[in-house]
Amino acid sequence: MDDPGADLVLLERTYGHFRVVNALLAGWRRVYRREIRPRLSPGRTSTLLDVGCGGGDLARRLAGWARADGLLLEVTGVDPDPRAHAWATRLPPVPGVRFERADSASLVRQGRRFDLVMSNHLLHHLDDEQVRDLLADSERLARRAVLHGDLERSRLAWLVWTVLALPFARRSLVHHDGRISIRRSFRAAELARLAPAGWSVRRGVPFRLLLVRDLGAEDDDER
Ligand SMILES: C[S@@+](CC[C@H](N)C(=O)[O-])C[C@H]1O[C@@H](n2cnc3c(N)ncnc32)[C@H](O)[C@@H]1O
Repeated sequence: MDDPGADLVLLERTYGHFRVVNALLAGWRRVYRREIRPRLSPGRTSTLLDVGCGGGDLARRLAGWARADGLLLEVTGVDPDPRAHAWATRLPPVPGVRFERADSASLVRQGRRFDLVMSNHLLHHLDDEQVRDLLADSERLARRAVLHGDLERSRLAWLVWTVLALPFARRSLVHHDGRISIRRSFRAAELARLAPAGWSVRRGVPFRLLLVRDLGAEDDDER
């Protein structure tokens, strides 16, 4: 997916297929219930940033869950890849969701702040130094909490994905890129070593990691 020369038809099908994969396997419904929903309010609008949002399906889904729960949430999905941004903005708009072509560093330079900052399947695209930069940016951008979700590397995950995603193998990059992504992803202990003090790594099912930074207080002079 990162290849600027990737076939556009295959790439756009991949954004579509990731919508299904994320819904079934990425575990964000649970993260929403445990980590996001308790921090939202029906009377005050909270803001959430999805960094590296790709096709934007999670940004849309999170806004939909909050709306269904009667909670006020504005979601901003950012991705530096023009093809991801074009795909995300071509789909029908969803209330409370906007997309920008940007990365975390440019948002920091603009002085932007969000109550919650999250990402899905971004960490394994970055080298160690880029992960540290992303975490530093996330701490500057977030007022209340940061939640970076990703795959957990394991031989079993790779084998399961190789078989499970076979039906997608010719139709999109999901099968091929998924196997590379699993090989590139972290184990819990590796991520824990890489993250600075204050961050914690939680393991989830199936083969999931959630890197969390709780910044605490609800009350904030800037709100
Ligand atoms: C595997 S995709 C995941 C997309 C989406 N979050 C999902 O779960 O389907 C990773 C995305 O991260 C974006 N990305 C890579 N490096 C980035 C960075 N430094 N800042 C923000 N996004 C980045 C890529 O453009 C790509 O769209």
